Amino acid sequence: MLARLFAPLLLAASSCLAAFHDHSPVVRRNSTGLTDAVTWDPSSLFINGQRIFILSAEFHPWRLPGNPDIWADVLQKIKANGFNTVSFYVNWALHFPTPDTNGGNGDFEAGTYRDIERFIQEGKKAGLWMIARPGPYINGETTGGGFPGWVGNVAGSLRTNNPNYTQAWVPYMTAISKIIARNQITNGGPIILVQAENEFSAGPTQSPYMQAVIDTYRANGVVVPITHNDQHAGQAGNFSPDLPGTGRVNIYCGDSYPQGANSWAQVQSIYYSAHKAVAPSNPLCLAEFGGGFLLNWGGAPFGGTGYEKYSNAQTTTILNIYMLFGGTNWGSIAAPVSYTSYDYGGGINENRVAGPKMNEMRLQGLFLRVSRDFLAANLLANGTNYTTSNLIHTAELRNPDTGAGFYVTRHDSSPSTALTTTQITVQTSLGPILIPKSGTLTFNGREAKILVTDYVFGQSKTSILYSAAEIMTWTTIDNTDYIILYAPAGQTGETSFLFNSAPTVDLAAANGVSSSFSNGTLVLSYTLNGSSFVTITLGTTSIVAIILDKPTANQWHAPIIAGPGTFGNFFSIGTNQTVLVSGPYVLRTASIVSNRLSLVGDLNGTTTIEVIAPKAVSTILWNNVPVRITRTARGSFTGQVGGTQTVSLPALDGTMTLIGSLPEIDPDFNDSNFTLADLTTTNYTNLPPLAGTQVLYSQQYGFYGGNLIFRGRFNASGEETAVNLTVQYGFAGGYSTWLNGIFLGSSQGSATISLSTDSWPIPSGTLRVGQTNVLVVFQDHMGIIETNTNGGKEPRGIRGYALVGGNTTFDSWKLQGNLGGAAHPPDTFRGYINEGGLWAERIGAHLPGFPDQTWASGSPLSGVSKAGINFYRTTFQLPVSVGIDAPVRLSITRSTATPVSNFRLQFYLNGWQVGKYVNSIGPQTIFVLPASLLRRQSANTLAVMVWAMDASGATVQGLQLISDGVFSSSLRFTDYVTPDFNAQKQLRATGGFIQPM
Ligand SMILES: *[C@@H]1O[C@H](CO)[C@@H](O)[C@H](O)[C@H]1NC(C)=O
Repeated sequence: MLARLFAPLLLAASSCLAAFHDHSPVVRRNSTGLTDAVTWDPSSLFINGQRIFILSAEFHPWRLPGNPDIWADVLQKIKANGFNTVSFYVNWALHFPTPDTNGGNGDFEAGTYRDIERFIQEGKKAGLWMIARPGPYINGETTGGGFPGWVGNVAGSLRTNNPNYTQAWVPYMTAISKIIARNQITNGGPIILVQAENEFSAGPTQSPYMQAVIDTYRANGVVVPITHNDQHAGQAGNFSPDLPGTGRVNIYCGDSYPQGANSWAQVQSIYYSAHKAVAPSNPLCLAEFGGGFLLNWGGAPFGGTGYEKYSNAQTTTILNIYMLFGGTNWGSIAAPVSYTSYDYGGGINENRVAGPKMNEMRLQGLFLRVSRDFLAANLLANGTNYTTSNLIHTAELRNPDTGAGFYVTRHDSSPSTALTTTQITVQTSLGPILIPKSGTLTFNGREAKILVTDYVFGQSKTSILYSAAEIMTWTTIDNTDYIILYAPAGQTGETSFLFNSAPTVDLAAANGVSSSFSNGTLVLSYTLNGSSFVTITLGTTSIVAIILDKPTANQWHAPIIAGPGTFGNFFSIGTNQTVLVSGPYVLRTASIVSNRLSLVGDLNGTTTIEVIAPKAVSTILWNNVPVRITRTARGSFTGQVGGTQTVSLPALDGTMTLIGSLPEIDPDFNDSNFTLADLTTTNYTNLPPLAGTQVLYSQQYGFYGGNLIFRGRFNASGEETAVNLTVQYGFAGGYSTWLNGIFLGSSQGSATISLSTDSWPIPSGTLRVGQTNVLVVFQDHMGIIETNTNGGKEPRGIRGYALVGGNTTFDSWKLQGNLGGAAHPPDTFRGYINEGGLWAERIGAHLPGFPDQTWASGSPLSGVSKAGINFYRTTFQLPVSVGIDAPVRLSITRSTATPVSNFRLQFYLNGWQVGKYVNSIGPQTIFVLPASLLRRQSANTLAVMVWAMDASGATVQGLQLISDGVFSSSLRFTDYVTPDFNAQKQLRATGGFIQPM
């Protein structure tokens, strides 16, 4: 019970204590009418009747390709850092390369990145709830926004009730709805929410299409709440349950990117007030809150630490961080707005390394999971007048039933990186107090704080009147309540507890802490410096206050000890036991069997651990190895684990095997296997062909990604002087063109244009008068555009073509994309999205095991002599001991030649296309080699395509492996041996030796 009853605020209030419990009749909960497992009221979601703050991490399974075993690594790191939920898109384009893939049931092949059910099960194993967001449209900076390429070919509009579009999406949504339905919480699975469509608005709430998506979920057994993320956060209330119309969802959410185009104004006031206006029966839900920002061609990465906490200012209780782990746009999965890396500045970087943001997220998550009063707190007021400095903005939240107050504080200006010191006036049950009474609070850049008043914790139900340090978390171990307080190093800390009479305060394990008791308040005063333990006892109440400076707090973890039952490894207040552990870089799990505490995780060097565990524990294991431990004066255990590990990386500047890879420019090249481009009509009515008879839109011929090759034939009269071409490739694309094997030139594209119109003069002596002439266009493909309402409706290929001079027209055109197109790729394991129309890809030279013994030898570092394409192969060993995680990347030295050297590279690791580099545009020069594709027990095959776009050729200045750290880890890698060349030999085009350029 409360140590002291509050003044008038709470006297209304037998409801005060009633509301503190989960099943209080005071709370009127809403439901879908189909299940009570997930319910809500205007303040928060409830899972199995218990209020919960949904702190969610966005993670796209397909962006961590290769061995699906690796998903558990990222999921465990998410869980270990304070999250309780993962949100994921499903990418329709990967599961339905054709409309009738697998008889209309889609490709969800076990053991591949397409195994969505496995991903969901790994989430559950990690103890994470899940939010499924399968679209049909997802945006997500992925090609077509998740629409398979063939969807763009559909006549009429997309994302409407156009019957052609309906026919396209229903099989996919039926298939994915079934997978989701059988993995819902009601069936023992982790899925608690399902989103319909994505950032969709059909103005204002009328959409038979949206309603049809919802009906498809329900018809296939989805019973949990259906959500929607309104792109225009809260402004329009699209599909809010509290507004009339078709397509209404159960829970209305918004998206918010304060570090990108948006500012705090949108997060703070527009979102909060608009949400209250258009969806008052819903908890505040941010389906996407920027955890970093998108990386564009030609741009620069975004970073930033700590601002995620600001979102709480609007009483958000469903918060999904987009992206928490961004991953890699391998193959052709990027949309043209994004390059290979989808790192996003997320808390876990593209190479699975948890960065400083994860500490910030963990501090927040561990606080939110135990701060139940916060979940039903109302926003009372906000502004810059709470603090003595007007540079600091405060939002004041208060729980109407318990009186607990929460002051969410941060710099008023979102870009500010200033260091500001201030004091704040807080309202307590003993009246207003300026804290700290002496000294100041420190705000460093984007750091935010949640300061509490009248905050009750622990088994003893002790009340904190106020604290100038934040609460990291609290837990009860044996019969002692532990509360962890933290603030920036050097800041003044002051924490006031309410007690009926003076407790005994033991400061023996404290450093620089003083205590005083008067008028029912115990005040601890301190300067933050390392760690202090203060023991407070009064009668049966036993409290240890652990006071940490922020760098020290960043090392502490509070893993739960899994209990019994289906969801025993999910945090649930009052049912889980917790231990407190300091030191490890990642602490994945903790478990206790009799007297043994087993800790599982990762270390980034020699690490001293400190452990607070139940008295019964006398042995500690780290990754199954007993730790030599000693008892500290403050009652904890300490010991040393780990050591210094190194991995030696092989050099890549040696000789490789080499072949030319553009035989198609030879006029006599046999293109009988190419597709005849004989269509003369198109459904891309918004972007019709600009000139020429044949429609040369690659999607219409079944090619949806990767390099494209066109061969056009005409009979020359001799009067032709130039070739006019418009080629549409997407942002940062480009193309090269040859006539009768003679190079005409290249268009380099730019980061902000999608197509190029050029007139190429025909050099004298190039034409074959009275005979067949062959024009070849080799183009890059930067992915299919995303969309608002007409998605995928931008062609890739030649928009227009004409010969200048004479009356000559092209007789015929042929084209080639990836071998077999999307319908019949030879490599169904990696999928059609992995390769394009490059000759070396068609013959399978990017795959391990390709016979390259007859190739020439050379290196990308010695260059390509003229415009054209060379393809290089090499192998390397990366021996890494069991128990070591050594993430590596491939680094390209950007060419410094002036004028800029125009060339493009594509990299393949063990047959997977893992990178696309554009020397003239950038910015990416370092490419992750995913651990889920790297082999440790056998040789890795690296292939490099060098496309020289200038007549003078191109030279790669440097190529090397670099390390992203060496961690001793509980992870166990086994080589993901995916189909090699021999498995596909029969299905591949015939090879032969092509002279390098
Ligand atoms: C339940 O949701 C509906 C909207 O679907 C709303 O009209 C109603 O007020 C809500 N009830 C409660 C108790 O929040």
